[in-house]
Amino acid sequence: MPTQRTLCIIKPDAVEKKVQGSIIQRVLEEGFRIVAMQQVQLSRAQAEGFYAVHRDRPFFDELCTFMTRGPVVIAALERDDAVAHWRKVIGATDPAKADEGTIRKLYGANVGENATHGSDSPENGLIETAYFFPGHELL
Ligand code: CMP
Repeated sequence: MPTQRTLCIIKPDAVEKKVQGSIIQRVLEEGFRIVAMQQVQLSRAQAEGFYAVHRDRPFFDELCTFMTRGPVVIAALERDDAVAHWRKVIGATDPAKADEGTIRKLYGANVGENATHGSDSPENGLIETAYFFPGHELL
């Protein structure tokens, strides 16, 4: 399995619930290396830029409002097969459809407030980690 990067965002709902520590512990237990990590309050422009691929979706405005309502914890994660592995750990986008034990099942409320983000492809893993952590490019 190739070493990959994926972007983890612990979203405002999870930070409000004070479960960011539990989620970071899970990251480590799942064998990820934390390449970089920061807690930030996203600006509207940062949220809109990050989710630009969704800008024509009906939920785009709601998504950007949610992502900027409080601090998020953003981490660049690395391990073998990082993208698929992290997506398995966080579970389906809709917490109601997520498997037992997944982060979204444990901490998500609904399809909008779903506790965590994970990149959807190895290419986007590199693009998304570089969006928030320029200077941490793979050598
Ligand atoms: P994420 O993995 O961060 O990527 C895009 C986000 O859009 C997704 O998680 C959801 O939080 C959000 N999203 C997807 N579908 C909907 C929806 N129908 N209503 C509100 N938000 C959504």
